[in-house]
Amino acid sequence: MRSSLLITLAGLASSAFGWERICRVKPLGGGLDDGPNINRAFKDCSDTAAIILDGFYSVNTLLVAEGLSNVDIVLSGYLQYTPNIAYWSPNSLYLTYQNATTFWFLSGDYIHLYGGGTIDGNGQVWWDTFNISQNAGTAGGSSTTFARPVPLTVGNASNVLVEDITELHSPFWNNFVYQSTNVTYRNINISSVSYSSAPAVNSDGWDIYRSSFVTIEDSTVNNDDDCVSFKPNSTNINVLNMWCNGSHGISVGSLGQYAVETDIVANVYVRNVTMRYAQNGARIKVFPGSPDPNSTAGGGSGYVKNITFQDFTVFEVDNPVLIDQCYDSTQDFCNQYPSNLTISDVHYINVTGTSSGAEGSVVVDLDCSAECQDITATGTHLSAPNGTATYICENVATVSELDFNCTSSSTS
Ligand SMILES: *[C@@H]1O[C@H](CO)[C@@H](O)[C@H](O)[C@H]1NC(C)=O
Ligand SMILES: *[C@@H]1O[C@H](CO)[C@@H](O)[C@H](O)[C@H]1NC(C)=O
Ligand SMILES: *[C@@H]1O[C@H](CO)[C@@H](O)[C@H](O)[C@H]1NC(C)=O
Ligand SMILES: *[C@@H]1O[C@H](CO)[C@@H](O)[C@H](O)[C@H]1NC(C)=O
Ligand SMILES: *[C@@H]1O[C@H](CO)[C@@H](O)[C@H](O)[C@H]1NC(C)=O
Ligand SMILES: *[C@@H]1O[C@H](CO)[C@@H](O)[C@H](O)[C@H]1NC(C)=O
Ligand SMILES: *[C@@H]1O[C@H](CO)[C@@H](O)[C@H](O)[C@H]1NC(C)=O
Ligand SMILES: *[C@@H]1O[C@H](CO)[C@@H](O)[C@H](O)[C@H]1NC(C)=O
Ligand SMILES: *[C@@H]1O[C@H](CO)[C@@H](O)[C@H](O)[C@H]1NC(C)=O
Ligand SMILES: *[C@@H]1O[C@H](CO)[C@@H](O)[C@H](O)[C@H]1NC(C)=O
Ligand SMILES: *[C@@H]1O[C@H](CO)[C@@H](O)[C@H](O)[C@H]1NC(C)=O
Ligand SMILES: *[C@@H]1O[C@H](CO)[C@@H](O)[C@H](O)[C@H]1NC(C)=O
Repeated sequence: MRSSLLITLAGLASSAFGWERICRVKPLGGGLDDGPNINRAFKDCSDTAAIILDGFYSVNTLLVAEGLSNVDIVLSGYLQYTPNIAYWSPNSLYLTYQNATTFWFLSGDYIHLYGGGTIDGNGQVWWDTFNISQNAGTAGGSSTTFARPVPLTVGNASNVLVEDITELHSPFWNNFVYQSTNVTYRNINISSVSYSSAPAVNSDGWDIYRSSFVTIEDSTVNNDDDCVSFKPNSTNINVLNMWCNGSHGISVGSLGQYAVETDIVANVYVRNVTMRYAQNGARIKVFPGSPDPNSTAGGGSGYVKNITFQDFTVFEVDNPVLIDQCYDSTQDFCNQYPSNLTISDVHYINVTGTSSGAEGSVVVDLDCSAECQDITATGTHLSAPNGTATYICENVATVSELDFNCTSSSTS
């Protein structure tokens, strides 16, 4: 059977791309795998075209959309991946970073994905299984054991706009922006919340890697890991008007994990974020140095530079403002091997709200191992539930440019 029904332009709103072709994927129903037909549409309608996904699709085949050019993907329906661990673990696409794999690799130039529909990762089965096995998969991909795929990866792509989509129950990160440039996400509503006692591990809203000119705005995230995470080589990023609940914060890093690598995160502007019931608010995490030139637990070089967190409101957040440049290390080790990855030009403007009290009265913790340069804070209004708020600063060169008094400061 022909996968995609080619229909005329009549009756459908025209698009900026001036479609020459439309592929509407007819759902098979009955739990049959719609993946092959969706892949056929990605091939038949790969240039100056629209792909209409307006039904309920069950997907048990890796989705690969490569080389798209001027394509609208109108997802007004519901796309659900099967929780078929035996199929997906070896067959999801491996993405060369932190063993991440994906259900859907979306690639090309000028792609607009929208339509008010839903992408459902069926994560509960994966979280429950991971909770028991703690199996993180196998580096190198094609893990025959266990790999938790990302529901939507925009990879090797440029000029992409994703808007008005709901994303539910991702087994792993919800969105991966991979080796791409000029990618915007707008009005994305994410919920990855476990219904069992197994946590929704690694349910980050977004992870950005080797990408630039990425904007994420007007979106909500309910999850149990980073709301947005800037991984190595994320540059020129805007994160605006976000509501994050239950997360691990808006996080730069972790960076500097691999001694042989150089990691850069620069030119990041985060504004108007409401962060509720979270482990962290505005966070930067960097590994310490290492004596081992091949270390995989620190020693990497690079820099974090020109990062602004503005109009950040926290409610019941353990660490409203956190720089940890001794990430995943003991203090002794970190003192001996300060980080080789520098942090500078970080600005906190109008960070307000209350901490959870989990860190006692500490609301700001700027813990640098190598000296952090040009860190500033203005308009800080943070309180702790028990006692006067306190602020920790270690190895911060510019404590005079902070609008609070540090209780501990080894540099002044
Ligand atoms: C990737 O897989 C390798 C081998 O299974 C494992 O040692 C490593 O911890 C995994 N890395 C991550 C980030 O999960
Ligand atoms: C992405 O691009 C890189 C560099 O061109 C290439 O090596 C890699 O195979 C591409 N990945 C995919 C999944 O197409
Ligand atoms: C970025 O991509 C959008 C389409 O998604 C496009 O409208 C815009 O012109 C692109 N910006 C640049 C600078 O190329
Ligand atoms: C998850 O793991 C914890 C700790 O091992 C265990 O207590 C709990 O019952 C597990 N939950 C599920 C749903 O497997
Ligand atoms: C801030 O973000 C919220 C969504 O979290 C939005 O409703 C509000 O309009 C934004 N405020 C401004 C000034 O953009
Ligand atoms: C990041 O970019 C720098 C500079 O272009 C490059 O040397 C480094 O290898 C990149 N790192 C990663 C992890 O891609
Ligand atoms: C700092 O980053 C912001 C946000 O990306 C950018 O607009 C600005 O030009 C950057 N400043 C410098 C000096 O690069
Ligand atoms: C680091 O790795 C390289 C390449 O694999 C190897 O030649 C070298 O001996 C290693 N060095 C140490 C100190 O382990
Ligand atoms: C501080 O942030 C709050 C919450 O986003 C906002 O309502 C207020 O206008 C901001 N104040 C200033 C001085 O920017
Ligand atoms: C890492 O930093 C240490 C000082 O803490 C320095 O001796 C070493 O040369 C640095 N390594 C690299 C690769 O920059
Ligand atoms: C502060 O209050 C929180 C919540 O009420 C509590 O969990 C925490 O133990 C308290 N910490 C201290 C240092 O009193
Ligand atoms: C910081 O301490 C100085 C000296 O004790 C005091 O004058 C100043 O008001 C304090 N600033 C803040 C923001 O608490």
